Amino acid sequence: MTLRLLQRIALFSFVIALALPPLAAAQSAADTYKGKCQACHGPAGVPSDGMAKAMGLKPLGGTDVQAMSDSDLTAAITNGKGKMKPFKGTLTDAQIKDLVTYIRTLKK
Ligand code: HEC
Repeated sequence: MTLRLLQRIALFSFVIALALPPLAAAQSAADTYKGKCQACHGPAGVPSDGMAKAMGLKPLGGTDVQAMSDSDLTAAITNGKGKMKPFKGTLTDAQIKDLVTYIRTLKK
C-alpha cells in the first residue's frame, strides 16, 4: 500500500514535470496553497466556521478579498496580516506571485 502510494506520487510528479509550464506553475501554486495556507484559509479559500470566527478570516474568493489589489494581496502574504505570519523568507517572490494568481482563480 505504501509502495503503491509512492508509485502514484512518482507518476504524479512525472506527469506534472511534463505538463506545459503555465499549467505546472498553476499546479505548484495549488500545492503551495495546500501545504502552507489551507490549514487556516480552508480548501478553495473557504475557511471552516470555527477558523473564520477564531481568526476573522474571510473567504479568499469572496468580494472583500477579491476587491483587494494584487499588490495588497502580495503585501498581506509577504508581510503577514492579523494572526497570519509573514511568508517572506519561507516563500520566494515568484511563489507569492503565483499564489496571488491562484487566489484570483478562486473568485466566485
Ligand atoms: C495561521 C493561519 C494562516 C495561514 C497558515 C495563512 N493565513 Fe492568510 N490570513 C490569516 C489571517 C488571520 C488573515 C487576516 C484576516 C483579516 O484580519 O482580515 C489572513 C489574511 C490573508 C490575506 C489577505 C486577505 C484578508 O482576508 O485579509 C491573504 C491574501 C492571505 N491571507 C493569503 C494567504 C496565503 C496565500 C497563505 C499561504 C501562503 C496564507 N494566507 C496562510 C491566516 C492565515
